[in-house]
Amino acid sequence: MGILDNKVAVITGSSRGLGLGIAERYAAEGAAVIITSRSEKSVERAVNTLKQQGAKVAGIACDVGDLDSVKKLRDFTLDTFGSLDIWVNNAGLSGPYGPTADLSIESYEQVLDTNIYGTYYGSVIAVRHFVAQGSGKLINLLGRGDKGPVKYQNAYAPSKIWVRSFTLALAQEYADSGVGIFAFNPGLVETDMTQQVAAIQGYEAKLNPLRTIRRMWGNPPEVPAEKALWLASAATDGKTGIEVQVLDFPRVVRGALGEGLLRLTGKHNTVPLQIEVIPPAVP
Ligand SMILES: NC(=O)c1ccc[n+]([C@@H]2O[C@H](COP(=O)([O-])OP(=O)(O)OC[C@H]3O[C@@H](n4cnc5c(N)ncnc54)[C@H](OP(=O)(O)O)[C@@H]3O)[C@@H](O)[C@H]2O)c1
Repeated sequence: MGILDNKVAVITGSSRGLGLGIAERYAAEGAAVIITSRSEKSVERAVNTLKQQGAKVAGIACDVGDLDSVKKLRDFTLDTFGSLDIWVNNAGLSGPYGPTADLSIESYEQVLDTNIYGTYYGSVIAVRHFVAQGSGKLINLLGRGDKGPVKYQNAYAPSKIWVRSFTLALAQEYADSGVGIFAFNPGLVETDMTQQVAAIQGYEAKLNPLRTIRRMWGNPPEVPAEKALWLASAATDGKTGIEVQVLDFPRVVRGALGEGLLRLTGKHNTVPLQIEVIPPAVP
């Protein structure tokens, strides 16, 4: 018996990284899960991985920044498993690190399309379905910048403050509907997003501290996935508007103390970081 038995969950951006970690955790607790991301091949690969783990799983490619694609995702879920109980708007893009005017308009828009429109479309589609059935859990992913400005991350950071504000307002609007609407910041997670980064030429060295920060505060996807499981479970029935921040004060202190100890003993290893250097956009 699992705590998500008979539940059906959609996790966007679940072909790898945190989304895959959440899908694996939900499936291990009995949920039927839908794997989805832009790349059909990656979806297929992740579906096969989950099948080998004995999961009830199906997959479909979907770009969350495209409304028709998100509607197809909902229809595919209902056609495949017959119901829909949990929707996690996890798909996210960080964009290149650097001064705002040096980013190409296209790369900026891609971040907003995924993080803002993707969350908006997914939320509206899920909330309409959940309100009609009088139950359901919507989980929207926060990230760095969800509480204020971050220099050189001026697409990602404001997109996440938007997600936070949008999600908490949505929770207030549907407070008496039986639907749980939650904002979830997973902290620093060891995924492609933090291991394969892009920077505008001349700004790549500014990303070097990420190696230390990851060593201090990074978690494998399994750690935040456990919190995402709690949010989706019956433990939050009757609740809404909860905001979870995995990287809380005790974790920050533990990470800093651990780093101090590693340095004292000379045991701090080099954390791999791939930086793609991008020329500044032509005016
Ligand atoms: N990693 C961290 O430290 C961290 C910290 C705070 C918050 N978060 C948040 O956690 C979420 C997951 O991050 P992650 O670290 O797991 O990222 P990741 O490793 O880069 O994985 C992102 C996933 O989203 C998919 N994706 C990207 N754009 C998409 C789109 N337009 N439509 C559909 N799928 C899309 C990717 O697959 P395709 O490329 O095939 O589409 C992939 O499956 C994001 O919302 C991120 O902002 C992460």
